[in-house]
Amino acid sequence: MKSFFDRKEKFWYAVAEVKAVDLSFAPMEGLSYCEFRRVHARFFPGVEQYCAPFLAPDGQGKVKASARKDLLPEKNKDLRLIPQILCNSAGAFLALSRELEAMGYKQVDLNAGCPSGTVVPKHKGAGMLLDLNSLDAFLEELFSHTELSVSVKTRLGLSGAEEFAAVLEVYNRYPFSELTVHARTRDGLYQSTPDLSAFALAMRESRAPVRYNGNILSPVHAEAVRASFPDLERLMIGRGAMANPALFRLLKGGNKLDKEELRAFLEELFAAYLDAGIGEHYSINRMKELWYYVHHMFPGGDREWRRINKARTREDYSAALRDMFASGRFDPDAAFPGAIPK
Ligand SMILES: Cc1cc2nc3c(=O)[nH]c(=O)nc-3n(C[C@H](O)[C@H](O)[C@H](O)COP(=O)(O)O)c2cc1C
Repeated sequence: MKSFFDRKEKFWYAVAEVKAVDLSFAPMEGLSYCEFRRVHARFFPGVEQYCAPFLAPDGQGKVKASARKDLLPEKNKDLRLIPQILCNSAGAFLALSRELEAMGYKQVDLNAGCPSGTVVPKHKGAGMLLDLNSLDAFLEELFSHTELSVSVKTRLGLSGAEEFAAVLEVYNRYPFSELTVHARTRDGLYQSTPDLSAFALAMRESRAPVRYNGNILSPVHAEAVRASFPDLERLMIGRGAMANPALFRLLKGGNKLDKEELRAFLEELFAAYLDAGIGEHYSINRMKELWYYVHHMFPGGDREWRRINKARTREDYSAALRDMFASGRFDPDAAFPGAIPK
């Protein structure tokens, strides 16, 4: 019979097999701005990095003052923040990245995944994958003129996962600091089941370290992905953490989301928007965008959610929020709905 020490050794061996996970909060336009990031990090520490929603520069690399303000170091204290650029002109990318470097950033991320119908036809976002020769020329110019660390967040292709092999071949020609793969095609938008067999190619062949993204909505989803790729160390999570802001903590073995903690988080975030001078109407709208995700933590709470959506004033909003929290529907095990990656 095996001694206790044999068994203990085996146990430690098993633990060592599961690599520590590095978690990144996905960029979410309309949601993950500096007020959100700051309040989230205060309530739910332990996220390794936040990726900022994309900046869309003009031909000279200029962005709106409000977009620039969102990245000011004093508004993002104590966060590891990665700015992201959506554009197809290397000149504009370089001009903006120089400005970001002067603000203290050491890494910028290229958006090659935005599926929007207004972006893709301009060969931006996922539209960069329309013509791989142009993508190659863009990257050639970019990497010949920057010392900054550049990462990329990409889709698998436009309409078929089989496109990914050629896309990856282009990325592999350049020294990206990280390759985040949103394991869907552009046509899959946010609905299709993420494709783990296509993602496997990145794990096998990418020269850059790989980060997985797509439908990590609960610990079960994360386990499914990590079971398929024991060497995968980096995950990026968006909607799952918008619904359950404690998801990162859960994935690191911490406590489930607590109802009062969620209420305090939402109240502090609303106050942070108002304090930032965002105005009552826009602050309520930002909270409604977030409630689109958070209401999933209150199964069956559609009536209360509609009331939140109808709120026009601070008083209406606060009363609707009280109503939701008093409904008795909160379930810490609930999650944003979506298929487990396959
Ligand atoms: C409302 C919304 C805004 C988004 N904004 C960005 C963005 O600015 N940049 C980007 O690269 N991806 C953006 N994404 C995509 C997410 O970062 C992420 O890749 C996608 O939601 C899949 O991950 P998830 O299943 O964990 O949510 C956005 C997605 C949504 C739903």
